Amino acid sequence: MSLLPILRFPDPRLKKIAAPVRNVDESIIRLARDMAETMYQAPGIGLAATQVDVHKQVIVIDTSETRDNLLTLINPEIVESEGRQECEEGCLSVPGIYDKVERAERVVVRYLDLEGREKTIEADELLAVCLQHEIEHLSGKVFVEHLSRLKQLRIKAKLAKQAKITAARD
Ligand code: NI
Repeated sequence: MSLLPILRFPDPRLKKIAAPVRNVDESIIRLARDMAETMYQAPGIGLAATQVDVHKQVIVIDTSETRDNLLTLINPEIVESEGRQECEEGCLSVPGIYDKVERAERVVVRYLDLEGREKTIEADELLAVCLQHEIEHLSGKVFVEHLSRLKQLRIKAKLAKQAKITAARD
């Protein structure tokens, strides 16, 4: 297993559209394992393949407090959604930034598991938010794009400053 470098907003590669996985083969299983390790180490509660510059429809999520309930979803698709909720979100590609985003309150997601079997998951609260956030990454969208233009400019400036400080330190 290995840790994968995470792209930082506004890296243009975060805008790429992920392709569906045709075959859940060894390379996909390895990718999912590396993504899970990267997510746990970060630490984060979700990671999309887009964020590690692999443009395939794979996401990993673990919203449990005990960090032992890993969900791997291949080709995830929201098939039902209802209600609204507003939740403060963060993202491993936008470090140190948290803001409120409105999403569906409850979703049903269809996906393939690591054995290539079709499954569905019904979720609400944090898991529903996380599923919507990660699935959105696969279509090239980062949560801050829900915020106002002014906020996005401020976030870009803040991240550019952080990157400069990190570069100076290295
Ligand atoms: Ni994210």
